Amino acid sequence: MTDDRRQEKLKAKARWTRKDLLSVEELSREEIELILTTAESFKEVSTRDVKKVPVLRGKTIANLFFEPSTRTRTSFEVAAKRLSADIINFSSTGSSTSKGESLADTAKNIEAMHVDTIVMRHSSSGSAEYLARCVKAGVINAGDGIHEHPTQGLLDIFTMREKKKSIKGLRVCLVGDILHSRVARSNIWGLKKLGARITLCGPPTLIPPGIEKLGVEVTYDLDSVIKDQDVLNILRIQLERQKGAFFPSIREYAAEYGISQERMLKAKKDVIVMHPGPINRGVELASEVADGPQSVILDQVTNGVAVRMAVLFHTTMAER
Ligand code: CP
Repeated sequence: MTDDRRQEKLKAKARWTRKDLLSVEELSREEIELILTTAESFKEVSTRDVKKVPVLRGKTIANLFFEPSTRTRTSFEVAAKRLSADIINFSSTGSSTSKGESLADTAKNIEAMHVDTIVMRHSSSGSAEYLARCVKAGVINAGDGIHEHPTQGLLDIFTMREKKKSIKGLRVCLVGDILHSRVARSNIWGLKKLGARITLCGPPTLIPPGIEKLGVEVTYDLDSVIKDQDVLNILRIQLERQKGAFFPSIREYAAEYGISQERMLKAKKDVIVMHPGPINRGVELASEVADGPQSVILDQVTNGVAVRMAVLFHTTMAER
C-alpha cells in the first residue's frame, strides 16, 4: 500500500475526536480498538528500509519529561520521527522549572512556539489533565504519578492481542505493586473494556482496598492462581514511591511474588511473561525468565513505537 493510500484509509477510518489522551479510563472500547488497529497498520513502517511516512509532516511534538524515562521518551521520539513530525525534547533538569517556573507557564511558553502536541510525564497524579486545561495544544499523558500510563496500557494490550489473538476471555494476572502502579490502572481499564478476566496478585499492603469494585479478582497467593493464567504482567517494585515498609524484605518479596524459573514450571506452557520495564532483576523477575522463551518484554518495546505512532497520529490530527 502506498503512503498516500494508507493516509486516506486512516483518515476515512478515524472516529477519533480527542486532542488529548489522558487516561484509558476515559476511552470507549471502540476508541481502544481504533488505536490498536491503527497501530497494526503503522507497525510495518518500522520494518522498511526507509522508516518514515509523511502523515504528520509539518507538525511539531514536544516531549516534556519531569521524571526519568528510557522507553517512553525514546519511543515517542522514534514514533514522531517515523510519522515525519518535528520533535523537541524538554527535561526538567537544566530548564527554568528549577528556577521555580510553574508547569502551566512552562507549557504555555512551549505552546507559544506553535507546538501541536505535548507529551508529558510528571510525578503528580492529575497533572496531565491540568495541563490539557491550560493549553490549546494536544496533551498525551506519558505517566502521571500513580494515576495512569495510558500508552503503556495500550501497548501491553496490543502485545497480548498480537500473541494471544483475542483479549475477550483472556486470563491476565497483574503481579506486584498494584498500589503505586499507573501501568496497572491503565491495564485494568483497557483489559476490562475488551473483556479480559483480570486477577491482581501481590502483598496485601500493595493492593488498594476495594479495588474489586473495578471487576477484578484479588489474591495474595501467586502459586494458587499461576496455573490458570494466559498472561503474567509483572510490575516493578517501585521503591522510590514507597514511603513505608510494605513488605518485610526484598528477599521475602522475591520468594513470595518473584517470577522464578521454578515458579514458571507451575504456569501454562504457553503463558506469556510481560514487564513494562525497568526490571529489578532477581526481585520481581528472574533474569532467566526475563530473557527466556516465554518473555515478550522486548516485543512490548517494539510495539510501543507502533502504538505511540497511532496515538500521536489521532490526537495531533484531531480538531481543536
Ligand atoms: N515502561 C516505562 O514507562 O518505562 P520508562 O520509565 O523507561 O519510560
